[in-house]
Amino acid sequence: MPSAELTCPLSDIPPERRPAHIAIIMDGNGRWAQRQGLPRIQGHERGAATVRQMTELCSDLGIEQLTLYCLSSENWKRPADEIDFLMYLLQEYIIDQRGPIMKNNLRVRMLGRREAIPNHVLHELDTTIELSRSNTGMWLNLAINYGGRGELVDAVRAIAGKVRRETLEPEEITEETIAEHLYTAGLADPDLLVRTAGEMRVSNFLLWQISYAEIWVTERCWPEFNEETLHEAIRAYAARDRRFGGLPDLETQITKNE
Ligand code: IPE
Ligand code: IPE
Ligand code: MG
Repeated sequence: MPSAELTCPLSDIPPERRPAHIAIIMDGNGRWAQRQGLPRIQGHERGAATVRQMTELCSDLGIEQLTLYCLSSENWKRPADEIDFLMYLLQEYIIDQRGPIMKNNLRVRMLGRREAIPNHVLHELDTTIELSRSNTGMWLNLAINYGGRGELVDAVRAIAGKVRRETLEPEEITEETIAEHLYTAGLADPDLLVRTAGEMRVSNFLLWQISYAEIWVTERCWPEFNEETLHEAIRAYAARDRRFGGLPDLETQITKNE
């Protein structure tokens, strides 16, 4: 019989030190392709394969939420043929993942503005979301045409509408009110924010929700992100001392100094 250590490489990390919610800025598809002498779109194709693999792995690890930055509200600035290919990939992914989504009991949510996304892509997305509605496993949150500032604008508009209709008083607005009007309403904030391809920036991702997320950046590009890299990120997170403005956790300090 293989030991637990061999079957689960993270078995030494207790559940409370694992991230319940991992958010990923999947970057570097183009650079990866360029380094292989391939067109950028092949980088996106490989990136989509990584998405499939990571979703399965995170679900198997018991992660509660996986939030993936698929397309930013700024990515429309890219050449039309690249955008078209990304839309094609997205549609293909959403259709072919229905089986695995149902098998793994995943719940799917879209974060972002629906406008500008082609209707046929939205239709497939809605079908998948509807199909997975009664599932109870990991949340797979797909950030598509997503911008953190735009999300806050949408929330402020909705809240202002309620104030105008006199169903909400300005004094009643709290942090919870704002959180309830974001695309992520009802979902817990990310614990761990991963960015691939080495860039030290958040690129308009989940600006409100990452206020206390632990950030982990790898030089690896998204198409080469694998199980080992995922474990590396989770281990790095487990070794962090989250203080939320308080004082260091004494128990963690003692363990670290031993
Ligand atoms: C991330 O890879 C995918 C999307 C933003 C859609 P990039 O396409 O940004 O790859 P690089 O950063 O140019 O290498
Ligand atoms: C962030 O990557 C958006 C996604 C991963 C979808 P970008 O490649 O768009 O970010 P910048 O332009 O380098 O900041
Ligand atoms: Mg990029």
